[in-house]
Amino acid sequence: MDSLTLTALLLFFTGGVTAQVQLEPQTALVLRGSDAKFNCSTRQPGWTVMNWSLNSRLVVTIVETTGVLNSSERFSVVDYSTAAEAKWEFIIRNVSRNDSGQVSCQILNGDQVTARLSVQESGSVEIVGTNRTAKEGDQVNFQCVARGWFPTPQISWTSDGTLVDQELFNTSSVEVGTLFNSNSTLTFTALRNTSVECLASIPALTSPQRSAVFLTVEKKPVSQDRTVLIAVTVSISAVALLILIIIAIVLCCKRRKKAKSNYQEQARAHSRSQIEEAPHAGEGQGQDNLGYATEPKANDANSEYTDSGFWQPNYISTIQIPGENSNQEANPVRVVPTYYNGVRKHRHVTIV
Ligand SMILES: *[C@@H]1O[C@H](CO)[C@@H](O)[C@H](O)[C@H]1NC(C)=O
Ligand SMILES: *[C@@H]1O[C@H](CO)[C@@H](O)[C@H](O)[C@H]1NC(C)=O
Ligand SMILES: *[C@@H]1O[C@H](CO)[C@@H](O)[C@H](O)[C@H]1NC(C)=O
Ligand SMILES: *[C@@H]1O[C@H](CO)[C@@H](O)[C@H](O)[C@H]1NC(C)=O
Repeated sequence: MDSLTLTALLLFFTGGVTAQVQLEPQTALVLRGSDAKFNCSTRQPGWTVMNWSLNSRLVVTIVETTGVLNSSERFSVVDYSTAAEAKWEFIIRNVSRNDSGQVSCQILNGDQVTARLSVQESGSVEIVGTNRTAKEGDQVNFQCVARGWFPTPQISWTSDGTLVDQELFNTSSVEVGTLFNSNSTLTFTALRNTSVECLASIPALTSPQRSAVFLTVEKKPVSQDRTVLIAVTVSISAVALLILIIIAIVLCCKRRKKAKSNYQEQARAHSRSQIEEAPHAGEGQGQDNLGYATEPKANDANSEYTDSGFWQPNYISTIQIPGENSNQEANPVRVVPTYYNGVRKHRHVTIV
């Protein structure tokens, strides 16, 4: 009884072990043109025969005792067996799209284990147009076209290397024969110079295919205008200020000259009247400063009276005119001797 139970248990476990054939990977995603590989292993001793099939077509048979019976350039196996387990790697070279389907491994008296082979196709990806230029704040569209993919590629965008929010782009796909073409449109606001990339990806690709363009953003012309305006205003103001200063200086000089010549005329007029009233000069005009104005008369007198032996002091002509202000009291007074027909007079001259 005990031995029977034990035998039954052994048979049960043996049966379980028989079923334990492993096929890896369960799913293989492979690019067309590359190789697909699967491992089939069992720990059951005496597996005798191992058959490999692709889409139910027997392609390779391995006999435990004699080795590989039928292999080809496209379908081959590599022995990775150890003492503990039998393990054979099945290789399909240069896979084509119609290789997709089921890959199965079966050992004699064992279950058939199946894995899935998916042959995918990587196409092209391209952003339509070349580098772009936009004004700051403009809405810019980028179109990305991916052609000849299987399955439908997943399209994503990056700006300056950062993934763009999915709400900013729309993607549509069409099947052309056994392949797919995708079209994606990205819309965003131009803010600064940006590197824009379109990425197309399928599971069999380890890294996506990409296409990049560069967006150059021109700053708003408004701000340029403002800068120019400020510059122009500043220059005009500076020039205007300069002109005002020059005018002020010129006016000031003119006024001073005029005042001077006015005084000279006045002084001459005084001298004339003084000479006319020469005998009475001391009475009415005593207050006036006539030193300078008498110069022409003095010269006349000089030539006239020298003959007569009268001394005419020359320094009279060199005496400085008093200033515009005739405030005698405040100004220093020099007493100058003058001779007219032998009459000596004292004239008061104010020096400024
Ligand atoms: C199969 O197994 C061998 C040995 O463990 C390993 O080198 C190889 O990468 C495996 N192949 C696959 C497709 O897993
Ligand atoms: C599978 O595809 C290859 C190349 O694409 C072709 O030569 C072959 O005839 C196809 N086989 C089947 C069964 O369609
Ligand atoms: C995507 O398509 C929807 C519906 O047609 C539209 O409302 C949206 O503006 C589109 N977005 C972009 C970025 O083109
Ligand atoms: C686009 O811009 C990038 C970065 O400025 C530059 O490297 C690239 O040559 C440009 N491509 C074309 C087609 O002008």
